[in-house]
Amino acid sequence: MTLLDGRSLAQSIEKEIIIQTDLLQKEGIIPTLAVILVGTDPASCAYVNMKIKACERCGVACVAKKLKEEITQIELIPMIEELNADPEIDGILVQLPLSAHIDTKSILEAIDPQKDVDGFHPFNAGRTLAGIEAFVPATPLGVMSLLEHYGIDVAGKNVAIIGASNIVGKPLASLMLNAGATISVCHILTKDIKTFTQHADIVCVGVGKAGLIGAEMIQEGAIVVDIGINRLQDGRLVGDVDFESVSKKASFITPVPGGVGPMTIISLLQNTLISARKRKSKNQKY
Ligand code: GUN
Repeated sequence: MTLLDGRSLAQSIEKEIIIQTDLLQKEGIIPTLAVILVGTDPASCAYVNMKIKACERCGVACVAKKLKEEITQIELIPMIEELNADPEIDGILVQLPLSAHIDTKSILEAIDPQKDVDGFHPFNAGRTLAGIEAFVPATPLGVMSLLEHYGIDVAGKNVAIIGASNIVGKPLASLMLNAGATISVCHILTKDIKTFTQHADIVCVGVGKAGLIGAEMIQEGAIVVDIGINRLQDGRLVGDVDFESVSKKASFITPVPGGVGPMTIISLLQNTLISARKRKSKNQKY
């Protein structure tokens, strides 16, 4: 069994990003990411803080807007529009989930697709589905980079994806399909998940349910990508896969922590850098 070590791959990509941001800065461009956090949900706060710290390490400027839970859509949209219009901002990210009184779709659609480094705007989601150049959501992008780094070609493979969110499952299914894999996407209404996972060469799971995938659910030699993250009562951080038993049967497996998580953060920074480079080439035209 080989560990798919996202932490170490993310660290090496980070070194490359630092070189690239340095070059851009010498040419007068400071890559800049705006991060909007609404409320005080502990998991969202933790993710946002990790993103801010990663920006700091990489020389990416971060404009963090931490807003009160009660903020309305009517107040939030003009803030996004202001960031859209600001030539110094390369990427805009609104941390999800948003509270129920805010319409997430309207907020995501308010972001300029050219600054949508999370890839959640329908413009980018559609292009990702169609296999056209787009900002691709960070988690699926990170999963694909990790598999590629370990020489895993998904073409012709059977892939079971557990979780059908717009953030992870659906864009991951698009990327895998476009790369030639055969995909089953399982979700909350799927009757018997193991009928899909047992026939899969690659199992990707991200639903937030510790221990969902046990050894009996995968075939010998399967590749297992754990996108879940759960805090147990004893404080331990685990994924959705029972690592101890599944790692004995899998050929490759991601650890949690240290697998997909660091790849998500670094992929977001890669997207921000792509946007900053586009700003530079736009500036050069005039
Ligand atoms: N919530 C969970 N994952 C993500 C993500 O990748 N981006 C944003 N904006 N919110 C999230």
